[in-house]
Amino acid sequence: MLKSIKSWLPATSIVSLLVLYSISCKHHPDEIIPPVSQCDTTNITYPGDVLPVLQAYCYGCHTGNNPSAGIDLSNPEHLKAVVNNGRLAGSLLHHADYTAMPEGTTLPQCALRQIVLWAQDTIFPDGNCDSVNVTFAGTIRPMLLLNCQGCHNSTKQAGGLDLSDYLTVAMLAGNGQLMGSVEHLAGYSPMPKYGKKLSDCDLGKLRKWIADTTFVNPPGGIPCNPDTVYFEMDLLPVFLSACAKSGCHDGSDEEAPRLTDYNTIMNAGVKPGNPGGSKIYKVLVTTNLEDRMPYPQGSPPLPDDQIAMISKWISQGAQNLHCDNQPCDSTNVTFSGTVWPIIQNNCYGCHSGSNPGGGILLKDYATVAAAAQAGKLYGSIAYLSGYARMPKNGNQLSQCNIRQVKKWIDLGMPAK
Ligand code: HEC
Ligand code: HEC
Ligand code: HEC
Repeated sequence: MLKSIKSWLPATSIVSLLVLYSISCKHHPDEIIPPVSQCDTTNITYPGDVLPVLQAYCYGCHTGNNPSAGIDLSNPEHLKAVVNNGRLAGSLLHHADYTAMPEGTTLPQCALRQIVLWAQDTIFPDGNCDSVNVTFAGTIRPMLLLNCQGCHNSTKQAGGLDLSDYLTVAMLAGNGQLMGSVEHLAGYSPMPKYGKKLSDCDLGKLRKWIADTTFVNPPGGIPCNPDTVYFEMDLLPVFLSACAKSGCHDGSDEEAPRLTDYNTIMNAGVKPGNPGGSKIYKVLVTTNLEDRMPYPQGSPPLPDDQIAMISKWISQGAQNLHCDNQPCDSTNVTFSGTVWPIIQNNCYGCHSGSNPGGGILLKDYATVAAAAQAGKLYGSIAYLSGYARMPKNGNQLSQCNIRQVKKWIDLGMPAK
């Protein structure tokens, strides 16, 4: 600790040293920020002293759907994170390692003193901790955004690291540096730098995510980014199973445009960057049931997550991107989280409704389990001899997906 303070001192001001103290250990308030006359700091409360200041000076930029720096100060979880990791105090005190806040000015001295003291003294309980349903997009990325990206982003790459880049995070997770630094293990720089250690809940989530993910990086391949929609891998199977069934958009009906590959789908009315202006999207979400796809009228709409994926793909420029190395979690396989999404995206369109392919229904747990029990599910996706190869007319499922389905069958097809 002492060594790190010393090596850090020359470049920084007294104020920064005081911030370090205020965050890392309890100190007399006057050391953090000098007393101000007529400023009551004896009984600082959130509703009475802190909230009004945040509302007046910060909410303008730090609330709403797209808050600055991804920090919504009206969201208790976000406030808790920036208090705990020191970003709130660091930015208000205009510490060199943080962006000075509020933008363009300094808080009135009394308000500043009250908030910094409040941040120092407040201990947030951990509350409900869901460390079971951990995903990169829903759990880990928001955590990194709040706690780490202030210093580790694409422009400010502290230590040469951009933690808004999935591949960097995956690399650090795979080689042990991520957990080493956040768990403050010997041999690693403790992170978040100058802040408090992450909560036990957050640490548990990180551990779980790393344990569940296989970080594969064979040389030469293009690694998959979980934020990107890949046409062949993610989207084409949906079109093939939901739209390109025989007699529909498979080229056999002159009035129905063919939707069997990238070019035919692009020709069917895709405006890159503009889902709302793209015919292929509009027909999925229109409230006019006569026009809505899939046909025939009365068919259920596409599942929400498939519609969302199509919209995201168009927003991302409707490109024909591909990748090779998808992290594959085949250890923690469930029906709802693993197997059903595979079936829904690749098979459901042909294997639901009143005339399912081969007479085989794959529309819920019971029907999928029945096909698995009969050996047909695995036989068809693994291309075993004696079975029709599925998905029909499409590429074989990824090796990862096949392994996951097999794992689920081997586990006795749990319904969860
Ligand atoms: C005019 C808009 C605006 C106002 C007002 C504003 N902020 Fe910010 N804030 C930003 C922007 C933009 C960033 C991101 C800056 C960057 O990434 O360089 C930011 C970043 C931050 C950060 C992260 C800083 C870091 O370096 O990690 C914190 C914490 C923060 N603001 C807190 C506050 C607080 C507290 C207030 C009120 C006292 C406030 N902000 C008022 C626009 C604003
Ligand atoms: C206030 C700025 C700041 C914040 C916030 C921050 N870092 Fe860092 N980080 C640094 C700096 C600077 C370095 C370079 C090493 C050093 O100076 O200690 C670094 C280095 C690292 C390293 C390499 C450490 C090693 O020993 O190999 C990792 C991994 C890392 N940070 C992860 C994180 C994570 C994860 C978070 C959020 C939980 C985080 N950092 C938050 C500034 C920061
Ligand atoms: C484009 C429509 C289409 C898609 C997509 C599709 N199937 Fe099929 N499936 C059929 C048809 C049609 C048959 C009847 C056999 C044939 O025509 O080859 C069939 C037959 C089957 C059979 C029986 C195979 C046998 O040999 O007994 C299984 C099991 C099956 N499909 C599973 C799947 C699975 C699992 C997926 C997704 C990974 C899938 N299907 C995707 C149309 C489809």
